[in-house]
Amino acid sequence: MTTKSQAVLDWIDARFPLTSTIKGHLTEYYAPKNFNFWYFFGSLALLVLVIQIVTGIFLVMHYKPDASLNASGVPVAFASVEYIMRDVPGGWIIRYMHSTGASAFFIVVYLHMFRGLLYGSYRKPRELIWIFGTLIFLALMAEAFMGYLLPWGQMSFWGAQVIVNLFSAIPVIGPDLSVVIRGDFVVSDATLNRFFSFHVIAVPLILIGLVAAHIVALHEVGSNNPDGVEIKKKKGADGHPLDGIPFHPYYTVKDIVGVVGFLIVFSFIVFFAPEGGGYFLEFNNFIPADPLKTPPHIAPVWYFTPFYSILRAVTYPLFGIDAKFWGVVAMGAAVVIIAFLPWLDRSPVKSIRYKGGLFKLILTVFIIAFFILGYLGVLPPTPGRTLVSQICSVIYFGFFLLMPWYSKIDKCKPEPDRVTG
Ligand code: HEM
Repeated sequence: MTTKSQAVLDWIDARFPLTSTIKGHLTEYYAPKNFNFWYFFGSLALLVLVIQIVTGIFLVMHYKPDASLNASGVPVAFASVEYIMRDVPGGWIIRYMHSTGASAFFIVVYLHMFRGLLYGSYRKPRELIWIFGTLIFLALMAEAFMGYLLPWGQMSFWGAQVIVNLFSAIPVIGPDLSVVIRGDFVVSDATLNRFFSFHVIAVPLILIGLVAAHIVALHEVGSNNPDGVEIKKKKGADGHPLDGIPFHPYYTVKDIVGVVGFLIVFSFIVFFAPEGGGYFLEFNNFIPADPLKTPPHIAPVWYFTPFYSILRAVTYPLFGIDAKFWGVVAMGAAVVIIAFLPWLDRSPVKSIRYKGGLFKLILTVFIIAFFILGYLGVLPPTPGRTLVSQICSVIYFGFFLLMPWYSKIDKCKPEPDRVTG
């Protein structure tokens, strides 16, 4: 660095912690040297967050949150999305990046969470990283749910109708609460406007704040790794962990490989299959919202369906309260219970590499049950499907609630002192 640029840097550093921030979070953030494929998804989640925000900013320039009908009898909001797709230069790619980005976000985040399960990344001292993660997941669900109303298609309208109506099942406050959420007695222009406001500003702000807290907490305690060994326990003469390497340049370069791989798959979908076979953009949503015509089958987008299945699996009233209410409770509990994992897992080791056969078996059954729940949530219910989703819901909750027991009796292998590569 020339003396002049050093002087500029010194001037900034005297007023703002620039060099120390770059050192603390990049060049002198020592991460375990054995990160593998599963460690791509944190940085990819950040990338998708940026894609969503940037494409969202451009969509807002042309989108209109207005449920009234235009001169052709089409809702203005729906027509503004069609206008973006057909008339705005590059509008189609911005819109498809955003709509495909929503699904990509959930794919990446589900894989990121699964990595946490594999390597016990939620265990002490990373409990707060995990709790921030669960809150991010909740915020992401709210963000996607409200965003889906905006194109004002049939699925937008009726999906919102079904989900907001669920809140009316809460005793005492339910009916008023659902009116507050809608801003009306039915899903209407008022609902569209408040969902728009939440989707473009309130929830993204919360998301960005939570992601910042997530990463600050991570950098405070240091990253876990596929061996689940705490690298800070073995330091060299220079004070750095023996099994650690600086994040920059080693992991910035590795993450670029992940970004390129991701962008190849993402571009392929955006260019050749933006609707994702009706899973990323449902076919019914290409029909303008019609409050007088209920679609024969209303299904949420794929990333909600495991939790939607749990909701529908509850068919019995309890304590004189409607089954619908208990379904909502079960669905909420299914997300909230994830936050408690750090205290449910009593295994002596963190990583699946050293856990016993019992944990591996239970994790496999859990993942299969989760996929089945996801699949059933897309289909209309039948008595047989309801029974299967009830069984899978029991497996889902059993995975968490029985963990203090099975993680203790599982025959684990001893954890090594150093990472194994
Ligand atoms: C917008 C969504 C999210 C973003 C941008 C994000 C970002 C990141 C980044 C950049 C890392 C460090 C790199 C890595 O370890 O892969 C990380 C680590 C971590 N994240 Fe997330 N994350 C998100 C959501 C979540 C969720 C939903 C959970 C769990 C409920 C979670 C749990 C964790 C854990 C436990 C770690 C530490 C992993 C380890 O050290 O092994 N994250 N996250």
